[in-house]
Amino acid sequence: MCGIFGYIGPHQAAPLLLEGLRRLEYRGYDSTGIAVKNGTINVHKKVGKVQDLRTVLPSSIPGTLGIAHTRWATHGGVTDENAHPHESAEGKVVIVHNGIIENARMLRTSLSVQGVALSSETDSEALAHVIERELSVDNNPEEAVRRALRQARGTWGICALFKDHDTIVCARNGSPLIIGQGVDEMFISSDPHALTAHTQQVIYLEDGDLATLTATSVKLSTLKGGKSQTKSSILESEWGESELGEFPHFMLKEIYEQPDAIRHCISGRLDRAGGSGRLGGLKLNPSDLAKVPHVRLLGCGTSYNAAEIGQLLIEKLARIPAMAHISSEFRHNDPVINPSALHFAVTQSGETADTLSAIKEIQLKGGNVHGVVNVVGSSIARLCGQGVYIHSGPEQAVASTKAFSNMVAALSMFALQVGRSRNISKERGVELIHGLQQVPHLVEEYLANQGPIQEAVDLVKDAKSVLFLGRGISAPVAQEGALKLMEIAYIPCLAYPAGEMKHGPIALLEEGSPVIFVAPNDHVKAKTVSAIHECRARGAKIILIHEEGDEIAQEGDVCISVPPVHNLVSPLLTVVPLQLIAYHTALALGCDVDRPRNLAKSVTVE
Ligand code: G6P
Repeated sequence: MCGIFGYIGPHQAAPLLLEGLRRLEYRGYDSTGIAVKNGTINVHKKVGKVQDLRTVLPSSIPGTLGIAHTRWATHGGVTDENAHPHESAEGKVVIVHNGIIENARMLRTSLSVQGVALSSETDSEALAHVIERELSVDNNPEEAVRRALRQARGTWGICALFKDHDTIVCARNGSPLIIGQGVDEMFISSDPHALTAHTQQVIYLEDGDLATLTATSVKLSTLKGGKSQTKSSILESEWGESELGEFPHFMLKEIYEQPDAIRHCISGRLDRAGGSGRLGGLKLNPSDLAKVPHVRLLGCGTSYNAAEIGQLLIEKLARIPAMAHISSEFRHNDPVINPSALHFAVTQSGETADTLSAIKEIQLKGGNVHGVVNVVGSSIARLCGQGVYIHSGPEQAVASTKAFSNMVAALSMFALQVGRSRNISKERGVELIHGLQQVPHLVEEYLANQGPIQEAVDLVKDAKSVLFLGRGISAPVAQEGALKLMEIAYIPCLAYPAGEMKHGPIALLEEGSPVIFVAPNDHVKAKTVSAIHECRARGAKIILIHEEGDEIAQEGDVCISVPPVHNLVSPLLTVVPLQLIAYHTALALGCDVDRPRNLAKSVTVE
């Protein structure tokens, strides 16, 4: 999604801005631009990737002060004019903006009435003009931005450059911005990734903050004009460099990182002696857990799929009603919130706007929310103030892989912890711990011997559509497999609980239709076999993900086996071949695996 990078200091800004944009590339975008101040402000912008922008840049862009942007279109099409930065009518102000200005239409109309010619269709451009209008009052950049934003309604992470002032003014309301403090230089970014190469000393702006930067100073205040309480902090080391190394794509690298990522997630969090989980960040003791009436889990995309697995594990182990919700639906359905219930916000980026709104809805109604978050210090991690970091390390491919696994691992540990405080025996707890501890090694074993992935790719790559089926805990795994293949190979995919197949999707089946079954050796396997027979009877080709040595293998046309593991953690094994099928299919079709079209890594608009 949209990304912002800015620099003020002694060095030439343009190379730093371009490198900053490159580090934001993984988030997904459709156009890019930079503005560098050197007397006047020079703006260059273009539809496409950072590489496309480079082709239109002059060989040198002098100036030590600048801002840059990657855009993911919301208001207005993907055109050079709609790309950021946006200039004000007289060229005194240039801005980059993330978020959505809800009253843009009204602002644009009032600007037009005043004779300002707008050159783009965006909501953001209006802000540049309004700031310039306010600047004419007292020539004070900070106050001009403050007054302009008071007229705006919506969300923003905004940075403004001024032709006549050596300063960057930035502000946050709902869209992340982080200031990186260097020696005699300052950086600003919407993502910690782009800062790690420069400094570890950072300030995460809070909603309602406004900051005025020079090379040597940061002045923080609030939009209302008061003192900001925001403090400086140190960037977590896990946001260090993440380069491709020997891998051709981040997605493949991240699939291979899963064993170590899971090790990080579970390390120190399992109490073998007590047969329980030990998630200290939840700040919940056994007597709190014993009283919880129900659990709700919120997420989008892959995180929702992980939340569905969490729901099943919590019900199974703790015998408390649990329900996974799609975040974007939650707030609008006016949900009933029980303040004694537990709520989990599951998110890799910690910035997803839909999940943020759902959290605010719960908090507004007196409920408490715990984060299950990857990005340390992200908006959701800070808003919740309690929860579990999943410790996947940086995930850069848009299609999530290792974060999914770690969300599932973290939720299994929670289910175990709450289960032990209410329902299951120590022995059952120890069995699950043993299962979880085996997973990293078993994933390694599978990755060393992946089975006929290429045969599966040959069946799906030219298919009109692909059906993914699973039952019980494998139904959300099937959903995750379908999401992966659809996201990166652009093949229409449908995921269904296997038993529901005969009530609808069966109509799609014809001779040769590929159907992917996820069928570990659990208590619902026999029922899944019936669904396989129903598909085969209609000529479908069955790609079967099963456990090694299981006689179910005779039911598939292409059989991919994973090492046997404790039933409740089987998703951590069965999802891996599905990730690989998606990856290799996208490659075979020549798709951009890491940066699929139209998608963004973190979606910061509702
Ligand atoms: C976007 C990404 C998905 C991701 C979802 C939720 O749609 O493309 O891969 O699963 O957001 O993101 P989150 O950061 O909240 O887990």
